[in-house]
Amino acid sequence: MARTRHPLPDAHWPTSDEAAASRLFSPVRIGQSCVASSRTWVPAMVPWRATEQGFATDAVVDWYGRFADGRPGVLVVEATGIRDVPSGPLLRIGDDRFVPGLRRLVDEVRRRSGGNTRLLIQLIDFLSVRRRPMREKYFGRYLALRDGHRDGLARHHADPAWRSRPDDDVREALCGLSDDELVGVLDERERQALTHGHRERVTDVDLAHVRDLPATLPTLFGDAARRAETAGFDGVELHYAHAYTMASFLSRTNDRDDGYGGSPDARVRLPLEVFDRVRSAVSPEFVVGCRFLGDEVIEGGSRIDDAVAYARRFAAAGMDFLSVSKGGKFEDAKQPRVGEAVYPYTGPSGHECMPTVFAGSPGPFGRNVPLSAAIRTAVRADGHDVPVVTAGGIGTFDLAESILADGHADIVAAARQSLADPDWWQKVRAGHGGAVRRCVYTNYCEALDQKHVEVTCQLWDRKFGEGEGDVPRTADGKRRLTPPRWSGGGAEAP
Ligand SMILES: Cc1cc2nc3c(=O)[nH]c(=O)nc-3n(C[C@H](O)[C@H](O)[C@H](O)COP(=O)(O)O)c2cc1C
Ligand code: SF4
Repeated sequence: MARTRHPLPDAHWPTSDEAAASRLFSPVRIGQSCVASSRTWVPAMVPWRATEQGFATDAVVDWYGRFADGRPGVLVVEATGIRDVPSGPLLRIGDDRFVPGLRRLVDEVRRRSGGNTRLLIQLIDFLSVRRRPMREKYFGRYLALRDGHRDGLARHHADPAWRSRPDDDVREALCGLSDDELVGVLDERERQALTHGHRERVTDVDLAHVRDLPATLPTLFGDAARRAETAGFDGVELHYAHAYTMASFLSRTNDRDDGYGGSPDARVRLPLEVFDRVRSAVSPEFVVGCRFLGDEVIEGGSRIDDAVAYARRFAAAGMDFLSVSKGGKFEDAKQPRVGEAVYPYTGPSGHECMPTVFAGSPGPFGRNVPLSAAIRTAVRADGHDVPVVTAGGIGTFDLAESILADGHADIVAAARQSLADPDWWQKVRAGHGGAVRRCVYTNYCEALDQKHVEVTCQLWDRKFGEGEGDVPRTADGKRRLTPPRWSGGGAEAP
């Protein structure tokens, strides 16, 4: 069936006077005393530019500096690992040795935004995800043999002798079965590990380090937040969204029976305990909020009713902001190729997280706003004035302004539009909206993220102006790492 491609909405850009009088460019208080100069927000985006050891590089510093040129009210640094373990070229904050590099990033953002951008860092914990194995390796080495496998082979071959055959024979015989034949022989987790790669879950309480997460995570998050404050950030965003540990605790699929799963109260317990520890590890003015899911989208997952209940608890606990996202889960992700790891933005829930112009009705633009609207209504009814942040397909002034006017959110986040044109906020504010390079929402950038290579945008990464031969490029030398600078005028071709 032919896919419907939703056209980009017409944009009616404001004059500079209209922008100055708008809600979007009005200040908002976040927490006790932090004030963002506008309700514009660049949410976390992993650019794959850190060193293999997790340190900030010049390219990381320049990436954030480039967003700061556009002077958003708030800029959130990518999901940054709170553990001191290798995790590829993702930023890390799991030890004090990461602080100087992060301080350099903070200084650059302060300088290039003229002090106008409030800077948060997203703190993440994630469990282990292995690459999809080769079939021979999986059966030859990874699979832990158990009696059930021998029973399965005995049934399949109608030969009880399989119950006492040597391990090597069993492994070889299992490897020779088709996927259909394996259904009654491997359990669901084993089949998943074969077809998608082994993935730890918060419900794997037979593993000591998973069972102990409620004991270990508050300290890990608290220490990371303290380092963020030392590095000079204005605050932290606790990553309670998408495919990662804290979102998995909140998920309706979490059936741990140790008081941290099952009922909604038990599922929200660890996220609240983490928040408490973080809050007490930093000063009262330091901003602490979270990003969480308004809807997990996956089968059996949390829906907006769960999210509303969590939001009410977060607000009552004193979180400084609530940022609402959607989907982005492993459970419905596409099967990866052999040797690659499953990526949580490839299935239906992933498409809801970063909707493209091919999204089903009503299209991608402001697609997730109903979630933030329901959450904001509920926390306001409880008497909390915590700002609620929305994201998803927002790339025009009109849409952003109407979301605020309708009370569907207090702050508008734009990830891909800000990547397409980090100056867009400044252009709109200055009455030069016509010069905005508009995101086309086809997810070239997301495909790069999926390959774990430097994220850039198709609208500018191969455009080299005169005299720009030596601008910093990707490792293969083909793409520039940040967009050309805006000269400040309105005539700039998008
Ligand atoms: C390349 C890329 C990397 C992303 N990395 C993160 C991340 O580290 N943490 C996060 O919460 N969301 C991440 N996101 C999701 C965005 O923050 C945002 O929620 C999503 O793109 C929808 O907003 P948009 O339509 O304005 O792009 C990422 C998105 C992209 C495109
Ligand atoms: S690569 Fe495509 S989807 Fe990503 S920011 Fe650029 S235009 Fe938007």
